[in-house]
Amino acid sequence: MKKFLLIVLSLMLVFMFSCSGKNNSADDGIDVTGYERMTLEKQSGKDYKILQLTDIQIIDVKQLPYEGRLTAGDIAKWPDRDTCAFNLIRELVSAESPDFIVLTGDNVYGQFDGDGSNFKALVDLMDSFDIPWSFVNGNHDGETVVNYGGVDYECGKGMKWQAEYVEQNTENCLYELGAETMGSGNFTVNLTENGKIAYTFVMMDTHGCDMAAGMNAEQIDWYESEIRKASKVRYGKGDLSAGVVPSFMFFHHPMRQHYLAMLKYSNTDRGFVSADGKLLNNGDYGANMESVAYFQSNALWERIQELNSTKGVFVGHNHCNNTSIMYEGVRLTFGNKTGTYDSWYQQGGTRITIKDGTGDFTVEPIYSSGSKYGNR
Ligand SMILES: [Fe+2]
Repeated sequence: MKKFLLIVLSLMLVFMFSCSGKNNSADDGIDVTGYERMTLEKQSGKDYKILQLTDIQIIDVKQLPYEGRLTAGDIAKWPDRDTCAFNLIRELVSAESPDFIVLTGDNVYGQFDGDGSNFKALVDLMDSFDIPWSFVNGNHDGETVVNYGGVDYECGKGMKWQAEYVEQNTENCLYELGAETMGSGNFTVNLTENGKIAYTFVMMDTHGCDMAAGMNAEQIDWYESEIRKASKVRYGKGDLSAGVVPSFMFFHHPMRQHYLAMLKYSNTDRGFVSADGKLLNNGDYGANMESVAYFQSNALWERIQELNSTKGVFVGHNHCNNTSIMYEGVRLTFGNKTGTYDSWYQQGGTRITIKDGTGDFTVEPIYSSGSKYGNR
């Protein structure tokens, strides 16, 4: 993340002196003194394109956590990282030339990565594009132990090791572990235009070890605090009375609202929004081919609605789902599964385009060859 930290301090100085001079907590309880952010710059006159990749799930058939973890057929099917996903990632990045790339978890499959070489190879590949990129963690990232048949098998090297590797070995990655009490990988990235925050990208951990619980209370308060800080820097008031910065959220595990959104199109959380996978007129698209594995709590959703900042929530986890549905004012999207391990219905990535001038955005699926929806 080295490149981006260099511009942070100068940008913060611009913000601090352009926002009515109030940077302490006296007026509204929101203290933005020393508010330092990983910052990306949007060029005026040009749309801003984000590429979401999800559930890449790099495996290494030479690093099985225990005998019999894969069948002989599996081993033949995924002989190496290129076949597994790297070729597809190269293809997508080359075709899209995005401004920013976000990986929404299960980036590697930790139990096949005892020596960490898969994580390193993925990070090195992502950094080689010379495009800012970021990631959140899924349930398979950083797996250190897997229980099979009542026996614990040691496997991956953990999230702290991963964070350390990224910190020391990347130029283009934006990532922070964040407070440990909130999990691994809670941080925000600000997109600025002409020195002002245009969007905040909120990256959150959905807790691989206890996904059903969803975000904890500290995380939800932190999310609110980040939105208030960004809005105070942008508009001068943390109470949001002067304006609220728009935001996207990226995390791995779906919310209950991803399930409820599908009910607009189907009697269950499975079904087609558009049978051919293409956009409908209102911007919705996709299919859910497996039941949504959502977290039950509505607490995060309630805060999203209260703040009225978040315009889109982008998740992964369900490899066979790729719907994007506008639900109660927020676009809820399952990213297209990127990579062939293990089950999937569609292949590719997801394009998020922030329109120049208006700040409106569109979400579109990018289908690669081999997708059930056909070639791009
Ligand atoms: Fe997952």
